[in-house]
This record gives sequence, structure tokens and C-alpha cells, in this order.
Amino acid sequence: MTEATKRLHVITWGCQMNVYDSARMQGVLAPLGYAPAAGPEEADMVILNTCHIRDRAAEKVFSELGRLRVIKQAREAEGGRMVLAVAGCVAQAEGEEIVARAPYVDIVLGPQTYHRLPEMVARASRAAGAVIETDFPAEDKFDHLPEIAAAPGPTAFLTIQEGCDKFCSFCVVPYTRGAEQSRPIDAVLAEARRLVALGAREITLLGQNVNAWHGDAGGLAALVRRLADIPDLARIRYTTSHPRDMDAALIAAHAEVPQLMPFLHLPVQSGSDRVLRAMNRGHTAADYLRLIERLRAVRPDIALSSDFIVGHPGETAADFAATLDLVRAVGFAQAFSFMYSPRPGTPAAAAPNPVAPSEKDRRLQELQALLRAQQAAFNADCVGRVVPVLFTGPGRRDGQVSGRTPWLQPVHPTASASLIGRIAPVKITAAHANSLSATLLAEEPAPA
Ligand code: SAH
Ligand code: SF4
Ligand code: F3S
Repeated sequence: MTEATKRLHVITWGCQMNVYDSARMQGVLAPLGYAPAAGPEEADMVILNTCHIRDRAAEKVFSELGRLRVIKQAREAEGGRMVLAVAGCVAQAEGEEIVARAPYVDIVLGPQTYHRLPEMVARASRAAGAVIETDFPAEDKFDHLPEIAAAPGPTAFLTIQEGCDKFCSFCVVPYTRGAEQSRPIDAVLAEARRLVALGAREITLLGQNVNAWHGDAGGLAALVRRLADIPDLARIRYTTSHPRDMDAALIAAHAEVPQLMPFLHLPVQSGSDRVLRAMNRGHTAADYLRLIERLRAVRPDIALSSDFIVGHPGETAADFAATLDLVRAVGFAQAFSFMYSPRPGTPAAAAPNPVAPSEKDRRLQELQALLRAQQAAFNADCVGRVVPVLFTGPGRRDGQVSGRTPWLQPVHPTASASLIGRIAPVKITAAHANSLSATLLAEEPAPA
């Protein structure tokens, strides 16, 4: 390996898949001598890993690029150099626009081309003008990325599936990430074993449609069972799932695989069948409620999380009321909710009957108040209970250690740092909006 002689700074926006990709880009550049920089001011190369999902995604990118330009030009004024790269979903969707509006950008690369970064960096240093790579190459980037070398910490992400063929009316992902693709089971298992050998105790399998994974005939359920055979892998999670791909085998895995955590993020988007149809979701509100019932029947302690969109074109007051009804019927432990935001090129962006922004805002406030109350109730319910916590790192205050419950609630009890990477029981003493207070029960960690 080349000695670290250069500094790399990666700015990551968007979903966990971008977080995973950023780590892999750092991995691919490490053999070229790039080590992490503390900030863009110290960096010889800056990668802005972008997200296109909502709001004024492109505007946000250009304003950040403006800030980075100042740093880049200051470096050049001193006779130095800074390579500026834009990656991620905005790069994929608006590559040409980026180099036209921000000609000081050296590299624009889409999410499927990260394995070509070293070559792009070399080309950028020779060529005048930007290097753009936004095609969907025939070769699989995962086959060309180096093995994960850096210790991931006690919790690690592992991308097993990318892209999406579902084409929900509102969503850019099928355009920015391309067609659905699953990594083969052997590659996934090899990476999981490596992560565990490097210290991971929990792995979250990632994909835009992670439960559509088909890198093996048995689907995600079979993969979860194979992962559960890895000694020292204590916790398995997966995100994000689609209700349509929640099959009987996966529900059975929730019943039978103790390492599979009792927490599921299962976006429903709306509780109105009319809107769900307009969204092209391929399921009804009743389908969703039935799924939740089946999951709870086999795993009574499972907690649910979801995503919601309010104000999709054509959404009436009655449709919105149906969403509130669905939320009341389920009782979510946590959820994300968004105002519908038109994305250029998607079918919904051209649909009639847009909902007025003030009405979207009103509906969002009402939904979020209900979801907040449900989250508070879920957290309050935990008080007095003893739960196993995976400790992940130092806490905010001296003497504290941070960890997560099986339901992803953060806790920061006073404890020895030697607990990091281990699982120990804590007693929940108080509930807060987004975290719990807890005291450590056993000084010696229980066997996981
Ligand atoms: N693949 C996942 C999530 C995709 S993006 C799924 O199918 O559920 C994450 C969330 O962003 C979505 O669940 C949706 O709630 C939200 N989202 C996507 N496009 C949006 C848009 N145009 N406006 C508002 N929210 C959007
Ligand atoms: Fe987007 Fe729908 Fe695919 Fe999820 S399932 S990534 S919301 S198109
Ligand atoms: Fe955003 Fe792309 Fe992820 S649009 S949410 S970074 S797949």
C-alpha cells in the first residue's frame, strides 16, 4: 500500500446507501495514498456525495459547491491543488448541468461507477475540463471494489441490493440508481464475515428494496439465516423494505432467527387506497395492515417504523384522514414523514391536482404530531424494563457509553468504555422524545 500522502474529505448526504458508498470510495482511494482529512480546508480531494430524493436537491448542491470553490481557489492561489468530485444521485441525474453551472468541478460520477474513481482521478489530473462518468456500466462495481479494510466499529452497513424497478409515481430512485440488482450470496457472506472479523457485532443489510434481494433462490430470509450462522454476529437488521416483498419466509425468519432484531422499517407512504394506486405502490392499506398483523403474530415485540408522504397530487382531505386512520391502527415506534416534493421526470410531477403548499404543511404538522405522540408512547412503555444494549462508542459526557436497544433507541448510561462492542443489559429509567435514560445492570457484560 502507498504511504498516506494525500488527504480526502467526503461530505455525505442522503440515505444509508450513500453512507456505505462514501466508505467504499474512501476504501478505493486509500491505495492511492488518500487518508481522511479533518475538513475540506485540509483536503487534496473533496467528494460531495449527493441525494436527489426531495426538495431543492440541486440548489443545495450548487450552494455547497460555491462554498467549496472558495476553498479550492484559495488552494490554487497558493500554488496547490484540490480535486473536487460530485458523486451520488444528483450527479447521476444532473451530471451535465453540474459541469455547466460549476465548471470548477473536476469529476462527476454516478453511484454505479465508484470503482472507476482511481482512473478518473488520474484522468482529471491530466485533462482540462471535467471527467464525467454517469453511465450504468456492464461490470458490477462490487466486483471491482477492494475488500473493506477499515474497522467499521460495532455496527456496520452492508449494501446487498441496489436500484429499483418499482417506479413509484413520486420517486427518482429508479432513474438515479438504475434497475434493481442483487449482489450474489457468496459475496455478501464474505463481506459480512470480514466486517465481523474487523469488529462488527451488528450488520444492517442495505438496499432501496432490500427485501426484493434475490442473490440466492431463498431470498432475503435465506440470507438472514446464513448470516445468523456467523459466530459473533449478534444483531441483524435490514432496510428499506417494500410491503410487496414481505414474503412468508421473511416473516417466519422474524419468528425464528433471534439475531434478527424486532424492528422493521416498512414504508407505507399513505393510508388511502386511491393515493396508493396513484403512487403505483402495488398494495392497499388493508394489505399493509394484514402484514403488520402477521408480523406481530409471530414476533409480538416487533416495533414498526414507516415513511409517509403527505400532499401527493390528488390527495384529498378524506385521503389524508385515511392516512391518520392507518397510523392509529398500527401504532408506530418511529416514522419519517415528508411533504410531497415534485421530482423532475417522475410521473407525479406532471400529475393534475397538486395540493397547495399551505395545505401540505398543515397535513404534515397534523401527521407529525400524531407520530410524535406514538413515538413518545412507545418510549414510555419501555420504562422499567430490562433490555439488552449493544454499546457502540463513547457517550456525550465523560464516563458515559452510547448504545442502542433492539428497537434502535439510543441510550447513554454511565459505564466503562470496555463495554464498547459488547451487549449488556440495562434498566430503562426514563423516556425522552428520541432517547431513553438507562442504568447498567451488570458490570460484567452478559454473554451475547
Ligand atoms: N425505497 C424506499 C425508500 C425510498 S426514498 C421505499 O420504497 O420505501 C425514502 C423516502 O423518501 C420514501 O419512502 C418516501 O417517503 C420519501 N420520498 C421519496 N420521494 C419523495 C418525493 N418526491 N417527495 C417527498 N418524499 C419523497
Ligand atoms: Fe422509490 Fe418506490 Fe422504488 Fe422505493 S419502491 S425506491 S419509493 S420507486
Ligand atoms: Fe437520496 Fe439517492 Fe439515497 S436520491 S435517498 S441518495 S438513493
